[in-house]
Order: sequence, then C-alpha cells, then structure tokens
Amino acid sequence: MSATRDQKITHDVGDRISYTLRPVVSFKLENWEKRRAAMQDVCSSCHATGWIENFYKQYEGTVDLYNEKFAKPAKSIMEKLYASGKLTKTPFDEKIEWTYYELWHHQGRRARMGTAMMGPDYTQWHGFYEVSKTFYTEFIPEAEKLMPGVTADVMKSDYHKWTQGLTPEQIQQQIEFYKKRYNQ
Ligand code: HEC
Repeated sequence: MSATRDQKITHDVGDRISYTLRPVVSFKLENWEKRRAAMQDVCSSCHATGWIENFYKQYEGTVDLYNEKFAKPAKSIMEKLYASGKLTKTPFDEKIEWTYYELWHHQGRRARMGTAMMGPDYTQWHGFYEVSKTFYTEFIPEAEKLMPGVTADVMKSDYHKWTQGLTPEQIQQQIEFYKKRYNQ
C-alpha cells in the first residue's frame, strides 16, 4: 500500500499482487509483471535486490509445486469422476467432495499463503504436510474406490511414482544426496 520514491500510496491492496491463490489451481493475474514490479519496488525500499529475488523464487517454487503435484492432478481426477457419473452434480453430498475441498481450499491455500506471508510453519506443517497426507491417504483411495483405475495416470507421474517403491540405485542416490547436503 505504501508510497515509494516512484509510486504514490494506494488503498487498493490487490494492486501489486501478482498471483491469485484463491482457486484450486493458482494462476498469475493480468499484467502480473507490472504488478510484481510495483511490489518489488516497495520491497526495495528496505531490502537488497538479491533478497527480494530469492523471496519470489521461493514463492514461485511453492505455488508451482502445489499446482503441478497436487492441484492439477486432483482436479483432473474429480473431473473424471463427475464426467463418468460416479458423483452427483450436487456439491458436498459425497465424502470425496469434502476431502477435495479441504485439500485445496484449506490445506493447499495455507501452503501457498504461508509462503506469500513468510510463514514457513504454515507452508510446511499446516500446509504441504497436510496436503500430502490428505492426497495420499484419503483423496486417492476414495477416488479409487469410486472408480478403480481413475488415479493410475497421476500416480505413474514423476511426482508420485515413489509410491511404487524405489530401486536399490535410487535409494543409494538419496542417501548420497542427504549425506552431501547435511555433511554427515
Ligand atoms: C519498511 C521496510 C520493509 C519493507 C517495505 C519490506 N520489508 Fe521485508 N523485512 C523488513 C525487516 C525489518 C525484516 C526483519 C524482520 C524481523 O526479523 O523481525 C524483514 C524481513 C523479511 C524477510 C525475512 C522473513 C523471515 O522470516 O526471516 C523476507 C523474506 C522479506 N522481509 C521480504 C520482503 C519482501 C518480498 C518485501 C516486499 C513485498 C518486503 N520484505 C518488504 C523490512 C521491510
């Protein structure tokens, strides 16, 4: 909202927002580059460029991970369930509709907003941890029960194929990755 050397004060709090985190799948708003530049101009009143760029890199990474790994796959599965008549058109009269809603509307939004607002606890523990738990232990099994095979393509993707088990080489790769990363 604040003025900077180059911008007047605004009371339109959405003016400098570049993403919408409201829908199931987040997307960038019209003129997002202009909006983001205006926000970054505010950040730069106090922070160095690298600091601001790192924030946005992390923010993009979070939204992208949420979108690609969970939101788009869950949405596509729900669409298949509706299209094949496995669910009625009435919202919230079936359990999976509640599961899906909590996945994107509660947990998925917390993960995204946690990053936007610099609250790592919300991104991880009240966000991605719960998104993953709901996705793997409720949403996927509930969808499979309604329509066997409907999650097959999603679960075969690079994001989720770990559930099918790892080869000894992949396990070794992971051990080495963590050894190097944490120097132990
Ligand atoms: C008025 C000055 C000011 C502006 C404007 C400002 N910040 Fe900050 N920012 C600070 C201060 C001071 C801290 C340290 C707060 C603390 O440690 O309690 C901080 C902390 C941070 C942190 C670290 C948070 C953490 O949990 O360690 C990040 C990241 C950050 N700012 C990014 C931004 C971004 C991105 C913008 C623009 C959208 C922005 N800041 C705008 C003053 C500002």
